[in-house]
Amino acid sequence: MSEILDTRSGAVRYLSFNRPKKMNALTRGMYADLAMALNDSAGDFSVRAVIITSEGDHFTAGNDIVDFMDNPPTADSSEVATFLAALLNFPKPLIAAVKGNAVGVGTTMLLHCDVVVATPTANFSMPFVSLGLVPEAGSTFLFPSLVGYQRAAKIFLTGETFGSMQAMEMGLIAEIADDALVAATRIAQQIAEQPPQAVINTKALLKARNHDSVAAVMRAEFEIFALALQSDEAMEAFMKFMVKKGSS
Ligand code: COA
Repeated sequence: MSEILDTRSGAVRYLSFNRPKKMNALTRGMYADLAMALNDSAGDFSVRAVIITSEGDHFTAGNDIVDFMDNPPTADSSEVATFLAALLNFPKPLIAAVKGNAVGVGTTMLLHCDVVVATPTANFSMPFVSLGLVPEAGSTFLFPSLVGYQRAAKIFLTGETFGSMQAMEMGLIAEIADDALVAATRIAQQIAEQPPQAVINTKALLKARNHDSVAAVMRAEFEIFALALQSDEAMEAFMKFMVKKGSS
């Protein structure tokens, strides 16, 4: 069974993280599948909107830490970099349905979505600093732009977790719903019924102001991230996670 479920309902394509036993932690293979599906959807006229969702109780626990240790992504051609580029450049409406934990890239990818719906009990966190790393996916630009410098700095530097109410007040999510996927589907279908070129043009205009800045920040983040992955601070944090895992 694929770790990214790829299904269709009419003009809406669903990409669902399917590794629930590992809290949907994202591996290189999953990033590659996501990138391929996004790029394919971009060129497929019959796809009018894409929903990113998850199997099981959680959205995703972020990048797979074992993968970080075994295959640290250091090149622009790495699967995670390819996925982030596909996300940044995706021209059609991208909607996320979030439940449970959205950790690391599970939260930063939401900054690229056009509409995010979350359940009332969803939790968001970006504990990159706690792992000896730096935030990625353009989030050091996008997150302070959204919530203000100090709130972004506090969340990044402490690694704290926040809930749906706070995420909604920040503008990170558009809606809270008991069934996030049902609500996301309703929104996606509504958009899919709109004139498609007007939808694409409007998204392009909405994203135009930040696109090049985000691309530049993403590149800078990636360079520092790649170095940080091999640092003593990161190794120590990864080992702590592995020890906890081994003792559970
Ligand atoms: N990478 C690899 N495996 C992960 C993972 C990750 N990022 N997050 C969770 N898992 C695995 C756990 O190892 C565990 O697997 P096991 O049952 O084979 O030991 C399983 O998923 C369930 O996670 P567990 O830690 O037991 O759940 P919890 O409810 O106690 O804790 C978290 C939830 C999210 C707090 C905890 O899993 C965690 O801190 N994960 C790492 C998050 C992270 O730092 N992500 C990277 C961000 S850049």
